[in-house]
Amino acid sequence: MNSESIDDIIHQNDIDLNLISIRELQSLVNKLADKFSVDFLRFEFGIPGLKSNPIGPSEEIKMLTENEMLPSTYPPFDGIPRLKNATVEFARQFLDIHVSPNNCIPTVGAMHGCFISLAISGRRKEVSDTILFIDPGFPVNKLQTQFLGLQNMSIDLWDYRGKSLGDKLEELFSTGKIGGLLWSSPNNPTWTCLTETELEMIGKLLTKHDVIGIEDSAYLGMDFRYDYSKPGQSPFQPTIAKFTENYFIIISSSKIFSYAGQRISVTISSESLMTRKYPYLKKYFNSKTILSAFIHGGIYPTTAGVPQTTQHALAAFFESACTGEFDFLDSLKVYKVRAKKAKEIFLKNGFTLAYPDDRGKPLGDGFYFTIQRGDLTSGELLYYLLQFGLAGIPLDITGSKKKGVRICISLVHQNQYPELDNRVKALNKFLTNLNK
Ligand SMILES: Cc1ncc(COP(=O)(O)O)c(C=O)c1O
Repeated sequence: MNSESIDDIIHQNDIDLNLISIRELQSLVNKLADKFSVDFLRFEFGIPGLKSNPIGPSEEIKMLTENEMLPSTYPPFDGIPRLKNATVEFARQFLDIHVSPNNCIPTVGAMHGCFISLAISGRRKEVSDTILFIDPGFPVNKLQTQFLGLQNMSIDLWDYRGKSLGDKLEELFSTGKIGGLLWSSPNNPTWTCLTETELEMIGKLLTKHDVIGIEDSAYLGMDFRYDYSKPGQSPFQPTIAKFTENYFIIISSSKIFSYAGQRISVTISSESLMTRKYPYLKKYFNSKTILSAFIHGGIYPTTAGVPQTTQHALAAFFESACTGEFDFLDSLKVYKVRAKKAKEIFLKNGFTLAYPDDRGKPLGDGFYFTIQRGDLTSGELLYYLLQFGLAGIPLDITGSKKKGVRICISLVHQNQYPELDNRVKALNKFLTNLNK
């Protein structure tokens, strides 16, 4: 595509490609696609690329048709008993942990669960108002801390793994300023995963310094290097809950059940944390106790509960996963195949991975990977990708210190791979001619 026309659109819209948000990028790509009549290969969205299994939708329809009072009845703020019980069972079968139904609370997607978990973590003690992010990560969480008036800090996974991660956390937690630590594993955007040893170290430090770990399990079980798909059988998805009681775990239906549109997830915690009292919480949540602050001070003023039909859908997904009737991870393995192939195409054409390995081990293939090219900045790389009909998000907006672009393979189907190959080959030739 003609670079001058791209420049015009970028200047007219006052866009900085290093810092462009996902939504702004979507609008830019739509404009370019219209102007040049090009079908972009869209690697920028982190959204499911599969249809949901009918288990969810048919459960919702059944509930609505069988219970005519359902639409006119407010849901309980803390969730319907069926979902709370199904969550207990799912946590037992897939995480190998034991939790109480009281401490399993549905929220309107993981975004909502993270929002309340961040608010509680950062408002228990006046001095501990900072959220520490293990970056790179999902940009919206930082927008949430901004919205909540909390401070945020970040460390880059690339700089701190293993013992050095523990040393850095000890140093930062000792200041007393950190109220919560948030991460996702597998990580969006690098697809690196924290090991059990790292989680053990983090867990000990969370307990020692009374910091809450917020484990965003949006991609639970999707580290396909291991088979986490058999209910009740080892290996289990590693989790912080094995190593501390100071946690919120957020399990979303969006990716694991391709149910993003229905906005349903659950937040799980321990009895020990949920029954703890912090006088400072009262200022914001009208309650000193975490469980009550979460439900009556968090859920009630934000959404006043979660629609009951979607709660039944998630319960049905959990129940059928636990009996082994629905192998939810099997249906997601197509992402692994796509990532492997797309990675190969970029790597054989002079690109490298911005985050090339996972603590010395090969990375898994999954929803995302990161690319870089020589010393191009994220914005420069994105600019060239756009010229060749490819889109991804700049790593700068994920809190990464590295330069590069996140590639999400969920929307690009295998029949588009020959075209991907052509475009990446042409881009490589173009950049090689520019000595880049
Ligand atoms: C790490 C992470 N957390 C949460 C979400 C969003 O989850 P939900 O749709 O349940 O709000 C995403 C979506 O991309 C994500 O990557």
